[in-house]
Amino acid sequence: MSGLVVIGAQWGDEGKGKITDFLASGAELVIRYQGGNNAGHTVEVGDKSYKLHLIPSGIINEDCLCIIGDGVVIDPKAFIDETEYLEREGLRVTPSKLAISDRSHIIMPYHKVLDGISEEKRGSQSIGTTKKGIGPCYMDKHERSGIRVCDLLKPEVFKEKLKASLEIKNSIIKNIYGGEELDFNEIYNTYMEYAKILVPFVRDTTVEVYKGIKSGKKVLFEGAQGTLLDVDYGTYPYVTSSHPISGGVCVGAGVGPTAIKSAVGVCKAYTTRVGEGPFPTELLDEMGEHIREKGFEYGTTTGRSRRCGWLDLIILQYAVRISSLTSLAITKLDTLAGIDTLKVCVGYELNGTMIDYFPASLEDLAQCKPVYKEFKGWDSSVAKAKSYNELPKNAKIYLKFIEEFTGCKISIVSVGPNREETILVDESL
Ligand code: GDP
Ligand code: IMO
Ligand code: MG
Repeated sequence: MSGLVVIGAQWGDEGKGKITDFLASGAELVIRYQGGNNAGHTVEVGDKSYKLHLIPSGIINEDCLCIIGDGVVIDPKAFIDETEYLEREGLRVTPSKLAISDRSHIIMPYHKVLDGISEEKRGSQSIGTTKKGIGPCYMDKHERSGIRVCDLLKPEVFKEKLKASLEIKNSIIKNIYGGEELDFNEIYNTYMEYAKILVPFVRDTTVEVYKGIKSGKKVLFEGAQGTLLDVDYGTYPYVTSSHPISGGVCVGAGVGPTAIKSAVGVCKAYTTRVGEGPFPTELLDEMGEHIREKGFEYGTTTGRSRRCGWLDLIILQYAVRISSLTSLAITKLDTLAGIDTLKVCVGYELNGTMIDYFPASLEDLAQCKPVYKEFKGWDSSVAKAKSYNELPKNAKIYLKFIEEFTGCKISIVSVGPNREETILVDESL
């Protein structure tokens, strides 16, 4: 079996897009299996920088087919805008290059409205969502009132489902939140126009995934978000509404676990998160500001500044366990260059007791004080390294410790945003 999963091992924005693009060379398929256009994946190739939200990062590679799988929620407008943007950037985005699952759920205008107004209503308890309608769309899916791509392609079915849903949503928008009702005809007509553009891309994508896996060709599953944003294993309720972990691949792409050969966890050499919720190693001082500026830690999707902190190995150890990671890709080693002393979290102190696990209770997590081990830093020569051996000695000591602590080997080291600035440590990937 040939499936290789690329997931985020932290709170998202670890560099999954860059690593997926790097691994996509020689791949037959690249499949997104969860999330939607809440994701923002930046991929730099040569002097070009691509911003992807819904479309798999494999699209930059001429030779592979990209799939938006069953578990993804699709905003048709966002899809159309992104395909047009990529074509303007000179990429081919045709149905021979990109497919959409007919089982994916569709993000409707009321999902976006509800995402916005429910966040407002939460006030100081807000999650800090991207307001793309992701949560409300997954809510309808699980409540069994969602509208799928296959419904959009049947005008009569779509009309009935939209009518039923809109009646309830308008009542919620108006009566619970005091918002403005949405117009049926406007949504219907707009979505019928979208359907005409989407139709050539739509198919049962599980067939292609099955064939790719069966033939033994390289098949990549690209995660969005990250382990700590998983609705079950993340920092609930400050999470997204899908399963970014490797387990999400099976339901979101339509394959069984035996289709997966390996799983790479992408992890920054430090930690960041956007949105609310506890973050034990967060740096609210000058060092946090320095990392944010040096690493250009601003969100690709919302432009919000990312909260920055030291590397947390309790989190990484947890991600290795939850996703059965077979290796790690460590990114942004160059961002830490020039810092004299680096800290790495190796445990938490919770109410006077040392713990070595990631707690489920957010109240406990908020009380956790990180216990640090210090490391000597390295200089900017790190960005020029073309092989593992060329990395500065202290960077190698840092990486070795990550491997030892997590019990997971490092297969890729990234020392800059560009495709070229990537060191493949494990040739078998
Ligand atoms: P994703 O959501 O996991 O794909 O990550 P994002 O694209 O949101 O954020 C990662 C950012 O870091 C992007 O701007 C990348 O271009 C950039 N990046 C990735 N790897 C490296 C690296 O090794 N060094 C530096 N300096 N930037 C990197
Ligand atoms: P990529 O794929 C970082 C965060 C939001 C918020 C929470 C819920 O680029 O790593 P949602 O809109 O999903 O309901 O928001 O999840 N979030 C992300 N954070 N990277 C992402 O994607 C994210 N997608 C969602 O900030 O805290
Ligand atoms: Mg991102």
